[in-house]
Order: sequence, then C-alpha cells, then structure tokens
Amino acid sequence: MQHNELKTPYFMIDEAKLIENLEKAKQLKQISGVKLVLALKCFSTWGVFNIIKPYLDGTTSSGPFEVKLGYETFGGETHAYSVGYSEDDVKQVADICDKMIFNSQSQLAHYRHLVEGKASLGLRLNPGVSYAGQDLANPARAYSRLGVQVDHLNSEVFDSIDGVMFHMNCENKDVDAFIALLESISTQFGQYLDKLDWVSLGGGVFFTWPGYDIEKLGLALKAFAEKHRVQLYLEPGEAIITQTTDLVVTVVDIVENIKKTAIVDSATEAHRLDTLIYNEPASISEANDDGAYHYVIGSCSCLAGDQFCEASFSEPLQIGQQLHIADSAGYTMVKLNWFNGLRMPSVYCQRVGGEVQLLNQFDYDDFKRSLSRWSVS
Ligand SMILES: Cc1ncc(COP(=O)(O)O)c(C=O)c1O
Repeated sequence: MQHNELKTPYFMIDEAKLIENLEKAKQLKQISGVKLVLALKCFSTWGVFNIIKPYLDGTTSSGPFEVKLGYETFGGETHAYSVGYSEDDVKQVADICDKMIFNSQSQLAHYRHLVEGKASLGLRLNPGVSYAGQDLANPARAYSRLGVQVDHLNSEVFDSIDGVMFHMNCENKDVDAFIALLESISTQFGQYLDKLDWVSLGGGVFFTWPGYDIEKLGLALKAFAEKHRVQLYLEPGEAIITQTTDLVVTVVDIVENIKKTAIVDSATEAHRLDTLIYNEPASISEANDDGAYHYVIGSCSCLAGDQFCEASFSEPLQIGQQLHIADSAGYTMVKLNWFNGLRMPSVYCQRVGGEVQLLNQFDYDDFKRSLSRWSVS
C-alpha cells in the first residue's frame, strides 16, 4: 500500500527509526548494566511491542490498566507505580507485577500486606532537585505530591522495602546536568540506598538525542550502581519513541484573516494534546524556514486557539495536500480523545521491509461507544 492511498488523519510509526533509538538503548545497557523499562504512559501502542521487546527489559506504568497491558503484551519485568492506589487497584495489580512502587509512606503502610510475598516492594522518593523545562512537568515543583521528600522520611522504612524510584527529569538532553542530579541523590539518600536491591531513576533522560554522550551517561550510571550496590533501572518513554512517527493530515481548507490559515483534518486538542498543554508548536516535515509562503496550520476543532504551528513553505499550500506533523508518538496516541466527534487517526507501522501494516482504525461506533453504553429508559 502506498502512503498517499491511506486515508488521513493517521499516525505512521517508522520501524527503522524506532530501531535506531533502540540500538542506542542497547548500547546504554551494555555500558552501564542498567535495565530499561518502557514507560507506558508515554507510548503504549502495543501493536509494535514485538519490535521493542528484544531491546528492553519490561514496562512501567502509572495506572492499573497499564500494568495489565504491560504484563499481557510486553512481558519481561512489569513495574507497577501509581500516584494513588485504591485497595482494589492494589489487589488486582499485585498478582501480575514484579515490582510495586508506592508514592507515599502512608500508601506503603496501608497496602504492603497485600503485596508482600507477591512482588518486590518499592517507594518513590522525591530528591527535591530536577531538570524540567516547564513547571507543569517538574516533579520537584513547589508542594509536589510526587514521592517522599528526604526530610519526611522515616528511615526505618528502608529495612522493609527492596527498592526506590526517583523521577526528576523531563526531556533532559544534558548529560552533565543528569550526573549532577545523580550526585545529589547519592549525597542525600546514599546511606539508605546501600540497604536496597534496586533503584529506578525514572524517565526523562534523552539519551537518544543526536550527539548525546551515551558513554558518559553509561559510565556514571555504572559507577552509581557499584557505589550503592544496587541494580539500576531507567524508565524511558520519549527517548525510545522520539522522532519515529508522523501524524499525517490533509489540508481541507485555506482561510485568510491577515494571516493565511491552512485548516487540516485533525486537531491538537483531540490528536496531539501536548501541543496545547505545553504550548509547544509542532513541526511540519514539508515546511521550509526560508519559504515565501507563510501559514498557520490550524486544527479543525472548534477551539479558537487550536493550531499546530505556524510554518513557511516553498510553494503555496493546496487544498487536498497532505502534511506530515513530525515527532507525534510520545504522549499523543495515549491521549487521543473524541472531542468534536472528529475522525480518530488510524495507526500504521512502516516496516523495514517496506510493507505498511495497519495497527488500529476507528469508526463511528467507537465514538458512540465511548460516550454511553446504555441509555436511560
Ligand atoms: C515516574 C515516571 N517514569 C517515567 C516517565 C517517562 O518519562 P519520559 O517519557 O520523559 O522518558 C515519567 C513521565 O512522566 C514518569 O512520571
């Protein structure tokens, strides 16, 4: 099937690009001895897990259904973490996870009896330091509820848990900044870490970014693991899936109000939510910064400020023309919603052998079913 025969909007995951990232992950593992678990919150399109599985050690999760999905479709190690578990969640998850990580000492105390003997017990700690471009995504922001602060720790807790998880990075492309965080963790928590079997350093380390010094990162992780005699984990999401996937859309109209807006058959609010939440414009593969033709790439939702970006092109855009919105995998497919009753993008994978495989498609019944299953009489 040729790409231009596919009905937009759709996501196209490129296997070759995914493997490029995974090869870097493999290199990092070889240098450092760290284990890598895929953060399903970022990407859980399980239709491509057969490509990822040979490279990573398992999955980590943020809610009970992600635990089940990781267990069923990925295998390996299944880490279960949630900011807030209900008793039912704990009961369901404890049977299928290998590690259960609680966000607070109170949840740990309350539910540990349901987990003991079934899974390795862990607690999330908050190191109070972080690397994050935006406050919204900063786990060490003021009054953060994510993990236990060092001055709130009951040191006895370390006698009855097996590991801890820290997560304090968001798209950190600076290896030295990450190493500084590692040192801070070692200084603040070192005496406790020495008692544990494993430590997860969370996600947000952008080791697949072009030019990232993987060897330096790997050696720093190895030294940390040796110093505290723990098995280290990272929980990459974005680093695994970055730059692998386009959201392909069609220009359905062009309107003008001082600026020209090309309206496409997709919307950030429904199909690429983080564009809106983090106010980070998307990038269009066909654009040319030096081009003479400037457009707002506008969504077809009703929200006045819903646009993908502004971009310049060498030629005027045409109604019916397709555009590729680059880097649209992480935190996108997991957040798709039916706002405005727009057509949901299909999901395809471009295999290395050239074949295009369909992973998902949606129709009106999926939309209707998402809204009500039963009607009042
Ligand atoms: C606890 C935890 N682990 C891992 C991740 C994955 O981060 P990323 O996709 O930036 O690598 C996140 C992201 O929020 C997280 O909160």
